[in-house]
Amino acid sequence: MTVTPHMALREDRRAQLVDGEFLFTAEDFRTIAATLHAAAGIALPDSKATLVYSRLAKRLRALGLESFREYCALVTGADGLDERQQMIVALTTNVTRFFREPHHFDHLREQLLPPLLANAKRGGAVRIWSAGCSNGQEPYSIALTILSMMPDAPDYDIKILATDIDIQMLAEARAGLYTSQVIAPVPGEMRARWFEREGDSWRASEPLRRLITFNELNLIGDWPMRRQFQAIFCRNVVIYFEEETQSKVFSRFMPLMSPDARLYIGHSERVCGPAAERLETDGVTTYRLRVR
Ligand SMILES: C[S@@+](CC[C@H](N)C(=O)[O-])C[C@H]1O[C@@H](n2cnc3c(N)ncnc32)[C@H](O)[C@@H]1O
Repeated sequence: MTVTPHMALREDRRAQLVDGEFLFTAEDFRTIAATLHAAAGIALPDSKATLVYSRLAKRLRALGLESFREYCALVTGADGLDERQQMIVALTTNVTRFFREPHHFDHLREQLLPPLLANAKRGGAVRIWSAGCSNGQEPYSIALTILSMMPDAPDYDIKILATDIDIQMLAEARAGLYTSQVIAPVPGEMRARWFEREGDSWRASEPLRRLITFNELNLIGDWPMRRQFQAIFCRNVVIYFEEETQSKVFSRFMPLMSPDARLYIGHSERVCGPAAERLETDGVTTYRLRVR
């Protein structure tokens, strides 16, 4: 086997792994990957070393640290809770879009919501969970779909729970302020009705916000919810977990799905583990509980 310079570097655990102003070694990378995995379930392959360096170098500068070794000591230490949170903010992938994977919103509008909203008008409850909501575009898209069918929805018992591990994304989601470019996928009429113009941006209006509660929640931590949901959106989130963690998350969704509920997952994800036995397909990456 030919030893490439890159592999030789890897063998020396204290050698510089990525060129840059701070010393960043294979050992540092492994410590950061293990810390992120324990904190958020996210698996970081070796190919992400450059990305980890560039995203965390900003943290080192902000903290006035001189090497990744110092940073690792901080995030793994007893006083590292705040910085572990900042590390999660820096290393999570938050890509999202209004009405991303539009077939799910078609399914919601055409299949799931009509009986649910009719029931809400008779006093019933509607509960939807956006798990891994990033900066809010997913739950706002769900809320906009509801409002397009039932403009007075905020006056009924209809609630969307939107959760994420990333506190920065949750702050943006609560602010509900999006640039014209970001909001472009929202149809003009919908935007005019449910958002307010602020300079070159658009802010979610009060009735739109009233449908959503944003909370911090770690999918590999404790879940305080006891009530069931009629829809769970968990899209493009578990893709960053290895299969065992994915399987656990899907299994934990099962008791939180009401008998008629749907689970919507991302286009490149598949339900795995025991939950796969409990679910059947009901559309593109859309699942419902099997009748037992
Ligand atoms: C790529 S975004 C997907 C956003 C949205 N669901 C969509 O499909 O557009 C993935 C989100 O999952 C969140 N996430 C990653 N690990 C998490 C965990 N352990 N618990 C909760 N959220 C997590 C990230 O912070 C990020 O905002």
